[in-house]
Amino acid sequence: MRAMSDTTRNGPYFVDQGRGDPIVLLHAFPLDGRMWDAEREALSQSRRVIVPDLRGFGRSDALLPPRSLDDHADDVARILDDLGIKRASVVGLSMGGYIAFALVRRHPQRLTRLILADTRAAPDSPEGRRARDENIALVARDGVAPLVERLLPKLLSPKAPPDLVARVRAWGGRQRAAGVMSALAAMRDRPDSTPLLSSIAVPSLVIVGDADSISPPEEARAMAAALPAGELTVIASAGHLTNLESPPSFLAAVRQFLER
Ligand code: MLT
Repeated sequence: MRAMSDTTRNGPYFVDQGRGDPIVLLHAFPLDGRMWDAEREALSQSRRVIVPDLRGFGRSDALLPPRSLDDHADDVARILDDLGIKRASVVGLSMGGYIAFALVRRHPQRLTRLILADTRAAPDSPEGRRARDENIALVARDGVAPLVERLLPKLLSPKAPPDLVARVRAWGGRQRAAGVMSALAAMRDRPDSTPLLSSIAVPSLVIVGDADSISPPEEARAMAAALPAGELTVIASAGHLTNLESPPSFLAAVRQFLER
């Protein structure tokens, strides 16, 4: 039987499933580790898969949400310490990718491979920062649900099936305001990771949906080109949350990359 354990210790909740080379899956905003259920099940057939709910989200929503993405990266490093794992492959989708960059910056020796999905190395533009502030004000005033409605057309392509839209709406809508507002501020204040790209020596895969409007394919292409051992997979007919919109293509890209 595959080992699967949940823990709430003092740090974030995480699921630890399977045996073999470790891989960490870092979730997007405003979701939690459950967005990786399908990939966790599939990859844990041959690997050890660790999926945290970042502090402030999902089953870690009772914990004080951190002020910066660096703190989330330190949480991930601590989970690896607790599990006695020296190095792991890391997959970060969108906000998860921003945290993967923070891991590279702060704990570079912990990575064996890097998968950056639907994410950006560039920081927020001045308009982007203003939009974060508006979204923080919206959540403070009206709660998380209206923010999720505002984000949905950007998170999923117009072709996304209604049941997937409903699932993402439900996942986002159950997040707590405190975690959501802290993450918005942390993303707003994240540094530019573009100068970091040329220093990332580990094999790296950039994945992007061809209809991703939050982290557009042109930026993904530029990131892959700037990574010394970078490659790119563009997933057709998918928006921002590529693993949810095109699970087989996403999984195939990850597997091919890991198995090479
Ligand atoms: C995410 O999917 O994590 C967010 O859309 C990232 C962002 O808002 O920059």
